[in-house]
Amino acid sequence: MARPRLKTNLAPTKVDKKANLKLVDDNAIKTTAYSDINLKKWRDYEHVKTDTFWEFPNRLKDGGHSNEYHGNYIPQIAQQFYERFTKKNDIILDLFFGSGTSGIEAINMQRRCIGVELKEDLAEKVSEKFTPKQLVTDVNIVCADSASEMAKEKIQARLEIMGRKQAQFLVLHPPYDDIIKFSDKKEDLSNCSSTEEFYELFEKVAKNGYDLLEKGHFAALIIGDKYSNSQIQPLGFECMKRMNNLGFITKSIIVKDIQGNEKAKGKTANLWRYRALAGGFYIFKHEYVMIMQKV
Ligand SMILES: C[S@@+](CC[C@H](N)C(=O)[O-])C[C@H]1O[C@@H](n2cnc3c(N)ncnc32)[C@H](O)[C@@H]1O
Repeated sequence: MARPRLKTNLAPTKVDKKANLKLVDDNAIKTTAYSDINLKKWRDYEHVKTDTFWEFPNRLKDGGHSNEYHGNYIPQIAQQFYERFTKKNDIILDLFFGSGTSGIEAINMQRRCIGVELKEDLAEKVSEKFTPKQLVTDVNIVCADSASEMAKEKIQARLEIMGRKQAQFLVLHPPYDDIIKFSDKKEDLSNCSSTEEFYELFEKVAKNGYDLLEKGHFAALIIGDKYSNSQIQPLGFECMKRMNNLGFITKSIIVKDIQGNEKAKGKTANLWRYRALAGGFYIFKHEYVMIMQKV
């Protein structure tokens, strides 16, 4: 569906106490302080999700996206985030950039992005998806350990070049502990010696994200759980708790259907069914999208 064109000359910000939101209001448009959605035309936004169960029949493969990276998220998720929680030209910070889905969609939706990825070869390959001009003005790729002070300093420098002090939206799509091993690096969250160590590294990354995000703005944690030692390891809820301890509040917990987005699972479906019946557990068909806010 075509997205409505919005005016940009906004009237001064007012506070809607009932909704606890800052609202910009004039005769033609009414928006929150963090989004371009015109609340006076809210019926025009049928494509924007407001429910906590997300199903996307197919992964988008056009608009610069490809599905070559195991463990990437589907572009439609970024589209939902950006439209609800960012304005045109805002900066999205993705601390687990992977194959760059957040950056590609930022370009497609006239937002900007800073992406941090640990693997040099991947960061280099992903740069090739953008034009030299885009890499100067719109998408900045930092190759670093997102938990480190050095990454934070590099991001701050990029933010300054892009004319902002902080980012307007934070994406955290970490490895789901060791389910997919991305590298042998000791800083890699998929290469921890225990799940506890994974949580500790995740918290360090989330702390950098918290410090670099503008107050009042939103963050999204995309994560699934895992089984080990004959029981579920609730990675999603534990990471959410760590983020709450840092000062994020949880706005929504969305359950996302992962059926159809999984690669290669079809071939082993019967084996998993047997294991589930024998082991007393259920097979994951969902992951979480947790929406948080820095208040
Ligand atoms: C689940 S993938 C993210 C995929 C991404 N959202 C996409 O759509 O392509 C997690 C990524 O985090 C990276 N990673 C792991 N530990 C990291 C760290 N300490 N700092 C930065 N990136 C890290 C991995 O190399 C991997 O590419």
